[in-house]
Amino acid sequence: MCGIMGYIGGKPSQHILLNGLKKLEYRGYDSAGIAVCTEQGLKVVKSQGRILELENRLQDEELAGTIGIGHTRWATHGRPSDLNSHPHTDNDMKFSVVHNGIIENYLELKEELSGQGAQFVSETDTEVVSHLIAAHYDGDIVKAVQAATKRMRGAYALAVLSAHEPDKLVAVRLHSPLIIGIGEGEHFVGSDIPAILEHTRDVYILDDGEMAVLAREGVELMTIEGNLIAKTPLRVNWDLAVAEKDGYAHFMLKEIHEQPAAYRRALAGRLLTGYPWVYLPELQLTAERLRQFRSVHIVACGTAYHAGLVGQTAIERWARLPVLTDVASEYRYRQPLITPETLVIVVSQSGETADTLAAMREARRQGAHVLAITNVVGSTAAREADDVLFTCAGPEISVASTKAYTTQLLVLYLFALHMACARGTLPAEEIGPIVEALGRLPEQAAALLERADDVADYAQSIAWQEHLFFIGRGADYAVAMEGSLKLKEISYIHSEAYAAGELKHGTLALIEEGTPVVALATQPELYEKTVSNIKEVIARGAQVLGIAAAGQPDLSVHAHRTLTIPDTHPMLAPALAVIPLQLLAYYASVTLGHDVDKPRNLAKSVTVE
Ligand code: F6R
Repeated sequence: MCGIMGYIGGKPSQHILLNGLKKLEYRGYDSAGIAVCTEQGLKVVKSQGRILELENRLQDEELAGTIGIGHTRWATHGRPSDLNSHPHTDNDMKFSVVHNGIIENYLELKEELSGQGAQFVSETDTEVVSHLIAAHYDGDIVKAVQAATKRMRGAYALAVLSAHEPDKLVAVRLHSPLIIGIGEGEHFVGSDIPAILEHTRDVYILDDGEMAVLAREGVELMTIEGNLIAKTPLRVNWDLAVAEKDGYAHFMLKEIHEQPAAYRRALAGRLLTGYPWVYLPELQLTAERLRQFRSVHIVACGTAYHAGLVGQTAIERWARLPVLTDVASEYRYRQPLITPETLVIVVSQSGETADTLAAMREARRQGAHVLAITNVVGSTAAREADDVLFTCAGPEISVASTKAYTTQLLVLYLFALHMACARGTLPAEEIGPIVEALGRLPEQAAALLERADDVADYAQSIAWQEHLFFIGRGADYAVAMEGSLKLKEISYIHSEAYAAGELKHGTLALIEEGTPVVALATQPELYEKTVSNIKEVIARGAQVLGIAAAGQPDLSVHAHRTLTIPDTHPMLAPALAVIPLQLLAYYASVTLGHDVDKPRNLAKSVTVE
């Protein structure tokens, strides 16, 4: 939700800022801008639209200087427009600010600052920050930023430039991610690692309430109160190439095809051939503690929530504990029953989703043990949770999540088995085949991907439909929800997911001649019942694509078309069945000519509640 970038060093900053912003565009892409300290003072160029628009504008007006800040926006306060784009400045153009987050008390601050003569030109909450810093400036930019943050409520990652002190860049964070890149004679600020990775692999990850003062010769870290702190830099060990498209037309397609490798990484070293079957040495949770839990809550948003629903089934079946799965934006407002015997699992690709973090903090406050399942090392969720399991999917750039979801499933399976072993709830003769089946998933995913063309063909046939339904029972229902979300978010085709047995309680009224229905029937014990539901929709005119599992009765005698996933343990079927659904959404979006990796109105990392 907005990407920020900053540079101070010896090179022209414009190019570095623009390149960094391009790597952050997944965080928001409705407008962009940069501010640079030039010999003539602070200069700002910004534009509604993609970074390309900004680049076009800069062709006529290059900003020469070696210190600057930049921003790519996902609008919250104020529609996308040139004026609402960041950076924002004070009226004398002495301070410039880029911001990711929301200043909750901005109206109150705006009124106060207007009373003191400040003139506001945008509808944003961020503009108050530049005026607030100007109002507190008394010859020391660091102190002015500290004083301003004391007045602000909400969430922010900020990078601040001042024409008064053109050899300093100030960065500060509260509830929005921020990293500092450490170079030689140059330093960087970024919302995320890919923005700075072409320049350095050494980064400081700022925690809430911390700030950094960047100069060419070094970085000073301190709390917002001004107490100096020492931090150990993190060495990034993944490659920028992983964050590039690598010959694929879109990041999403690349990430779908990376799933076999991602599965291998998520499972690497974690499967054993005998007791305790699963090896998760990074966990603090002991077997004894695992036996003490009385309930599990899984909390997440969007796609991660859908992974949680599959995890719920696995934990209930294997570890025999009641599990409640909830969306993070609802969880903490309904006063969930949390005790020290509750294990709360938060699932988050980014580890920065505001609602998920808030739920996690509330759960910890009430005494729960919190396990974070996340993809991002150094993320807030990873750092604040009592325990963390990394999904090892590698950087996911496309806004629509694919490999992050499937690796979340794998880690949830691993953890469910680990719990079942500790609790003695699953006999070895049942665990062994599951562990074996888990080990086969990477090559099975690869085999499934070889049949991507079949899905492309089907996607073209449904791309101009107005509605589409996904149905399934049990774990298939959770996959149906994920398939439906994927289709909606990148193809903009309206779709709904239904528990197959529930359709006749109302929604069946929407099925008419030619309505496409994707029916998942991978669960052997529910197969017959799902087939009955398929017959019900066909009788009303639906055109059905069936997703079947090898080794089960032939679904093609019922459905108009069938795609079969390789034979696996039924509980693991979601990790394969979702792949054709990801491809369906992808090819439908391509057929309709949409921007697959940057769907309208969305952003990758949702750091506002
Ligand atoms: C959809 C998608 C979102 C995210 C959700 C949570 O494709 O990616 O629904 O799953 O915003 O994000 P994380 O997992 O980063 O907490």
